Amino acid sequence: MQRRILFLAQLMLVVFTDAQPGVYWSILTGSEFCSVSSDGMCITDGSGEYANDEACTIRAEVAMSITATEFDTEEDYDFFTVGATAYSGSTGPTNVQVAAGTVVEWSTDRSYTGAGWTICGTFPVTARNDPHFRLPHGGRADIRGEDGAIYNLLSAKNVSLSALFEAADFTWSKRSVHGTKMAAAFWVIRTYSNDTVTVSYTAAVHGQERYAIVSVVGAEATDNKLHVDAAMPFKLSNLAVTLVGRKLIVETDKWQMAASADPFPFPILNKGKVLMNIEVTPKYDADKDVVAPHGIFGQAYDDDEMAVNGAVDSPTGSEWTTKAQGEGAIEGSIAEYKLADGFSTDFKYSRFDAVRAPHRDVSKLTGPKEKRGKGSSARVEHYAEPEPSAAVGSD
Ligand SMILES: *[C@@H]1O[C@H](CO)[C@@H](O)[C@H](O)[C@H]1NC(C)=O
Ligand SMILES: *[C@@H]1O[C@H](CO)[C@@H](O)[C@H](O)[C@H]1NC(C)=O
Repeated sequence: MQRRILFLAQLMLVVFTDAQPGVYWSILTGSEFCSVSSDGMCITDGSGEYANDEACTIRAEVAMSITATEFDTEEDYDFFTVGATAYSGSTGPTNVQVAAGTVVEWSTDRSYTGAGWTICGTFPVTARNDPHFRLPHGGRADIRGEDGAIYNLLSAKNVSLSALFEAADFTWSKRSVHGTKMAAAFWVIRTYSNDTVTVSYTAAVHGQERYAIVSVVGAEATDNKLHVDAAMPFKLSNLAVTLVGRKLIVETDKWQMAASADPFPFPILNKGKVLMNIEVTPKYDADKDVVAPHGIFGQAYDDDEMAVNGAVDSPTGSEWTTKAQGEGAIEGSIAEYKLADGFSTDFKYSRFDAVRAPHRDVSKLTGPKEKRGKGSSARVEHYAEPEPSAAVGSD
């Protein structure tokens, strides 16, 4: 009996630590009408038409921006309410900011129904560890890259984010892994003041110091390599660069991006080893930008609400060399995302200087696709390596 409980506890640990940390929504009343879906990120009235006299209340457990990925209710009679705003008809909330603790409501009257709704929170897309990607709209992929190569992660109008990949041998629980890690992050940002600013941040520890290097291209200052650290943030026009602990936050009016120099998972087995974890959150409706973003992350803001899953490693045995290159989830091949150096914005799909650019052609992607939001919850099946709890959070 005890063994069984222990086993269950371990299983739950795996399930919970694999999801992005935390619970986003709680159904307070009406769980027969409303449910949580898509790894806990979305809420929905379920598939098919809703019924008359439905009512539920649902609490947002974290601050987030919410968007309807599907919305069809009887206009002026069947309402989805967020704060003082009641949505009905075909227009649901788009990028509406809710505070933690906000209670949203669903109620329908006695007649006429519709297809209903799915409302999703927007969370950062991430590249973590040896890198596992969580892509926009919920797709996943592992990308080994190549030792010493720099790849573009996000290319949008006036914004470029890339990362240096390096070979890394490390221990994952009882397994020895020959993989890669991200070792540095680079940005090129063109501000509204028309200055081009470069930012670099490496995972290596400079003695005890941690800082990013920020340069304004072409500026005449004799010392044009500013060290940005916790005591010295950088701000210019619509760009802010801030170091908080080991996380560098680079933010414009449209994008919040962060790179965190973190210890490897299983830090006791990988003493002193540091890698970069990267996250990106759009602060606007990137799916509708006339310059459709690109790069490994950016291309999935393609306005289709489909999660496209790519190749992932499924390690076996006591020794494993990673090999997945995101096949199936990215347009073209990983080699096409390579940059000459961290401050280059130039690659096949670059959007940095574009005035207009189409979405990728998703029909050419071979990875399995699934509609985000409707359907049942927690997907854990093909994620090879759950996050060990020891690696989460501690500084
Ligand atoms: C921005 O700067 C570039 C060169 O630094 C210049 O060629 C361009 O005309 C400027 N654009 C605007 C809108 O001022
Ligand atoms: C890109 O930067 C230029 C120069 O500051 C600016 O004129 C333009 O509005 C920016 N475009 C976008 C989409 O932010």
